[in-house]
Amino acid sequence: MRIDVVTIFPEYLEPLNVSLVGKARAAGRLGVHVHDLRRWAYDRHNTVDDTPYGGGPGMVMMTGPWGAALDETLADGYEAGAHEPLLVVPTPSGRPFTQAMAVELSRRPWLVFTPARYEGIDSRVTAEYATRLPVLEVSIGDYVLAGGEAAVLVITEAVARLLPGVLGNAQSHADDSFAPGPMADLLEGPVYTKPPWWRGRGIPEVLLSGHHGRIARWRRDEALRRTVANRPDLIRRADPAAFDKKDREMLSILGWQPGPDGRFGPNPEAVTE
Ligand code: ADE
Repeated sequence: MRIDVVTIFPEYLEPLNVSLVGKARAAGRLGVHVHDLRRWAYDRHNTVDDTPYGGGPGMVMMTGPWGAALDETLADGYEAGAHEPLLVVPTPSGRPFTQAMAVELSRRPWLVFTPARYEGIDSRVTAEYATRLPVLEVSIGDYVLAGGEAAVLVITEAVARLLPGVLGNAQSHADDSFAPGPMADLLEGPVYTKPPWWRGRGIPEVLLSGHHGRIARWRRDEALRRTVANRPDLIRRADPAAFDKKDREMLSILGWQPGPDGRFGPNPEAVTE
């Protein structure tokens, strides 16, 4: 996979040299090219932003530098043999970034990121490139960052770990919270490692039993427990067919029951505290 990032803070992308993404690069699974937008500024102050039409606070990133930067970045990529670019525009107004989106992005050969500072990029830039390549506006959450660079780091890390050969154990993302499969829509439960005792705390007996069926059941119960506590919205929206008899028993213990449409919700009569 090839990744290009155009930014006014190239140093903000330094973390892409370390840890998992750094390893993916070193292993040749990922080529990352970071470009300084100011290279394409055209006045002596290297200006890349201006006041918004229609008034209002803040500054808007200008068409000129972005157009020149993206033309050259795309031309260089094609020249180097990259193909089928996807323009990824981080913005709090974008579609929510999810594990499913990370999986889709990990299947693309080439991602071009345009993290913006200030109030965003003049909309004609995305309109223009949308006539030439697919454009995806993405938000990493319902909060506003000072710029899209941190979002690029988040998205790149989530995508890079899914590339073939990057994580040692392919199973390690099959069990991820939010990954498709039997544990879809449930958060991962707690995990433990050696030593068996720490500050008077042991580990759940079942994990030492060697009994795979009981361990899987315990993990599922803990996943249900944590999801009810931290993300009740996931249980509410889950397809009830995904819950087997034991899941239903656990949900009932946690004070949740099926409503008229079969979907689970908190039992108003349950005493859970
Ligand atoms: N830029 C500023 N806030 C953002 C967010 N929540 N997601 C993606 N890009 C952003």
